[in-house]
Amino acid sequence: MTTINENYLKLKTGYLFPEIARRVKTFAEINPDTDIIKLGIGDVTEPLPEACRTAMIQAVKDMGDHATFKGYGPEQGYSWLREKIAVNDFQLRGCDIDDSEIFISDGAKCDTGNILDIFSKENKIAVTDPVYPVYVDTSVMAGHTGEANEKGEYEGLVYLPINAENNFIADIPSQKVDLIYLCFPNNPTGAIATKDYLKTWVDYAKAEGSIIFFDAAYEAFITDDSLPHSIYEIEGAKDCAIEFRSFSKNAGFTGTRCALTVVPKTLVTKVSDGSNIELWKLWSRRQCTKFNGASYIVQRGAEAVYSDRGKAQVKKLVNFYLENAHIIRYKLKMAGFEVYGGVNSPYIWLKTPYNLSSWDFFDKLLQTTHVVGTPGSGFGAAGEGYFRISAFNSREKIEEAMRRITTQFSI
Ligand code: MLT
Repeated sequence: MTTINENYLKLKTGYLFPEIARRVKTFAEINPDTDIIKLGIGDVTEPLPEACRTAMIQAVKDMGDHATFKGYGPEQGYSWLREKIAVNDFQLRGCDIDDSEIFISDGAKCDTGNILDIFSKENKIAVTDPVYPVYVDTSVMAGHTGEANEKGEYEGLVYLPINAENNFIADIPSQKVDLIYLCFPNNPTGAIATKDYLKTWVDYAKAEGSIIFFDAAYEAFITDDSLPHSIYEIEGAKDCAIEFRSFSKNAGFTGTRCALTVVPKTLVTKVSDGSNIELWKLWSRRQCTKFNGASYIVQRGAEAVYSDRGKAQVKKLVNFYLENAHIIRYKLKMAGFEVYGGVNSPYIWLKTPYNLSSWDFFDKLLQTTHVVGTPGSGFGAAGEGYFRISAFNSREKIEEAMRRITTQFSI
């Protein structure tokens, strides 16, 4: 008889965002005339930058002409895109990253999960708590964990609590871990990492022979010049870190799909026979086998992000969402909420009022203000009692949501 991957049965609940969508749908069916404002999932709302659209329109025209038509592209992505990324995102910030170390994909979400394909199940994985749920759920699916306890914590995972006491910055673990997921600017808390802080992780990883998975999907929201955008700004990181980036949140590609993963060629680990292996080779092998590359049209759109026009338009877009974040942060603080994040980040993380649980506050907010956010407990046990508000929406909706929330709640 056919058997299944029973690791899937260990998963406690459905994936967080579909669960929110389900509750919102039920509410909307019962209350069909309500104007619901969605500040839950971090999905962009503003149109794609003109530079990207123009480049994609041209790419569609290329596909309509025998002379410029493209079939399968390189699995790793077109070199004209990888070269621009290497220069603009890395070399201009002093990171010695070569275009051959960059792999274009259709999403950082997929890459942060798929990366586990090249590592054995025996690796001990550390995640912060709260955390972007993809890291945990894919670790479970890939067999890195045992069962979950009543709090939803999986046996075998090392949880690093982040809270107001430690500024939402995890302490280095006291035990040895092999793979560490870090995300800065942080989803969900909006916390940021300094170079000194990241250096402590790089030193740990190098001393222990561990590998850091650095999710930099929100780096474009960093406005403080002293903060690192890439882990490769830290000396030694090329020997112990893989970085994930995305065009979703900076250029509004959540529906267009384009991202990248950097696997430095200097990142080497031991095989059981004692020999060394470059992880770059394994990731390349994995991608060549299971992935046929992001589409030519989308990659042309992503390339336009690096044109002068594209850079200016992306900056404007990011600033727009950052201003939204500022408004949310300011208004909620004025109403007496305990608020974190929202600076150098599109996410605002707040303490639920009146000691409500995260889901109770979600329901109360939806019922009384028709505003949707994300319950902190959906990001892990230590997120209980917290709530995330996303700055991705139109100015009008953000202002209206804040008007409703601050009228309803005065703490
Ligand atoms: C989020 O809301 O946490 C993100 O939008 C999820 C994602 O990027 O996959």
